[in-house]
Amino acid sequence: MADDTPVETLTDAEARAELERLAAALTRANTAYHTDDAPEISDADYDALKRRNLEIEERFPDLKRDDSPSDVVGGAPAEGFSKIRHAVRMMSLGNAFEDGDVAAFDERVRSYLNLGRAAPLKFTAEPKIDGLSLSLRYEDGVLIQAATRGDGETGENVTANARTIADIPQELTGAPAVLEVRGEVYMSHADFAALNERQAERGGKTFANPRNAAAGSLRQLDAQITRDRPLKFFAYAWGEVSEPLADLQMRAIDRLSALGFQTNPLTRLCDGPAEMLEHYREIEEMRATLGYDIDGVVYKVDDLALQERLGFRATTPRWALAHKFPAELAWTWLEAIDIQVGRTGALSPVARLQPVTVGGVVVSNATLHNEDYIAGFDSRGEEIRGGKDIRGGDWVQVYRAGDVIPKVADVDLSKRPADAVPYAFPEVCPECGSAAIREEGDAVRRCTGGLICPAQAVEKLIHFVSRKALDIEGLGAKQVEQFHRDGWIREPADIFDLKENYGSGLQQLKNREGWGDKSAENLFDAIEERRRIELKRVIFALGIRHVGEVVSGDLARHFHSWSALVEAVDTARPAAEAHVMADEAEAAERRAASEAGRRAQIKPVRDAAWDTAGVAAEARAAWDDLVGIEGIGATVAVSLVTTFAQAAERASIDRLAGKLDILETAGPANTDSPVAGKTVVFTGKLEKMTRDEAKARAEALGAKVSGSVSAKTDILVAGPGAGSKAKKAAELGIQTLDEDGWLALIGAG
Ligand code: IVH
Repeated sequence: MADDTPVETLTDAEARAELERLAAALTRANTAYHTDDAPEISDADYDALKRRNLEIEERFPDLKRDDSPSDVVGGAPAEGFSKIRHAVRMMSLGNAFEDGDVAAFDERVRSYLNLGRAAPLKFTAEPKIDGLSLSLRYEDGVLIQAATRGDGETGENVTANARTIADIPQELTGAPAVLEVRGEVYMSHADFAALNERQAERGGKTFANPRNAAAGSLRQLDAQITRDRPLKFFAYAWGEVSEPLADLQMRAIDRLSALGFQTNPLTRLCDGPAEMLEHYREIEEMRATLGYDIDGVVYKVDDLALQERLGFRATTPRWALAHKFPAELAWTWLEAIDIQVGRTGALSPVARLQPVTVGGVVVSNATLHNEDYIAGFDSRGEEIRGGKDIRGGDWVQVYRAGDVIPKVADVDLSKRPADAVPYAFPEVCPECGSAAIREEGDAVRRCTGGLICPAQAVEKLIHFVSRKALDIEGLGAKQVEQFHRDGWIREPADIFDLKENYGSGLQQLKNREGWGDKSAENLFDAIEERRRIELKRVIFALGIRHVGEVVSGDLARHFHSWSALVEAVDTARPAAEAHVMADEAEAAERRAASEAGRRAQIKPVRDAAWDTAGVAAEARAAWDDLVGIEGIGATVAVSLVTTFAQAAERASIDRLAGKLDILETAGPANTDSPVAGKTVVFTGKLEKMTRDEAKARAEALGAKVSGSVSAKTDILVAGPGAGSKAKKAAELGIQTLDEDGWLALIGAG
């Protein structure tokens, strides 16, 4: 946080020292935010540091550093992308935080232009989108280049990535010969939530907020990844243009819209500060329902000739201002730290707060993430909050962004009660008393009680009946808790015995509070209706760690039937166990190597583990088939296989499957293609299509694409550089085609 010694009382030496400290802190924050997409401090803290720096520089202009953070926009471009020098510098915006700053801005502009108070002066007001800015260069109407802002002068060449964004036109009709369109790439809340869900299922990186997700997705060296990420783009400015777009900002925006760009529908023309503030309030009120993150309102002088005259300061235009929303922060007492046990056994610490209003919403619970977070460390073991831990009784800062669960962001040590003790994270499950252990590399501590843990059992049941799982009407969290408490249902299969076991239960149920004749009957009907159920819903409903909705769909499409899935999972078991062993051996080797100061020898360790375990070819093939499914990696496969291998879990799954009529997932629509039902493996370099494309096409024709060659393989498509797979296929006498041969076979040659 910025120091709060009044600037007026600083001596020269103090001011110099503080400017040095601020420059270092801001450089670090800039790199974390712009280059690494991993902010270390909140926007509000950043703004406070920047403001403090500016105040000191204004009071001590002689002490302004050559590398002053006030003259820096963004961060240096990351390594890996080619660099593009912007024809016209990409600017930042001056910030305002208070209503009074808006009138002051109007006055500054008037005074600079020598306009009297009465002279008309219009401004546009529009949302400030919280994404990352992008400059698109069109020549003769064709998109030729896209660059991030970088440090304002040089950005990263992300042309291939930008081409994958639907909101960005590839061609324009009727545009100036040279036109650089600038705007913001962002991700909607819904897309952000879905992406994170998907990432988590696949064991990939999840993002802290939509802005990071947008930045991380745009700045992918592989444009194919960007293509799979739902990015959007609003155009709001321009760089180099061979002829003016219009005479007014508002008309220029209309022109960009007519050229096919998305422009923000909340852009308004305002007559002066009063209307600007009015629109600011309107936008602020709509903020929560917009479906994407905004962090303020941007005002711009409407008359482009006046914009030209006003020009720029070091990094910001004189004709524009960003009026930021106050951060959604509040301080309150942390009354207690509770532990919630989730369906996968994760122990999640929850802060019970003295209720407080944060950004218009009353908050009484907030997340504390995990035990490291409480202790003051991040996942890499580095200090956060300057290493301050969080204790029951503390005065804490609560942060809320959009729909995200509020979190405890900071703590004020000066208000810590004398008797506050460091929080001891439980090592046994508070619900069932089983050991709660933390695996290496896992930030989360988990209860090992499995089905005997009532909290896990209830959470599992709630998940089981949830909308994307069995979706049983009339059976929600509340009812599940009630039935579980009464011992009517202990595991999913019991739901389908509810009527039989408590058939007179209908009678009992009717007598229960909240249940009438009709609702009880409806419930039994709804349960009956869900006996016939799609495969992917059953897989998802099991609530296996890392096996979410998307993975469940992938598995169902790959295996088609419940029996095929179970068989594959059982067959792969020895290979999965060997995989886990190899992982452990690898970790041990890494530790030993680092202690002995030598390089780890990983490959032999892994091979040895596979061989020592004597994993049969059949198991290896089943494992390879499983991890060969697009989107399913070793983490998911291990989780799936070990869940099925766990005796109590398995008995419960089998009991459930026995009650259900699990529908087969329809085979691919195309059954008369020459490759329908065949198992195909691609290896070596493909020249006419990418691996993903080849795979998608083969699957569309009804083929099953696998990652490894086994006796079950029907066709091997081998490009140049094919190695062991081609050899193995030859040994097994499997039909081998080159890329052209394959294309000819599927009629695409
Ligand atoms: S105008 C010359 N308009 O905010 C000024 N910027 O903090 C060009 N931003 O770098 C920018 N929404 O990335 C403008 N409606 C909007 C904006 C906007 C978001 C971003 C932009 C800029 C940053 C400055």
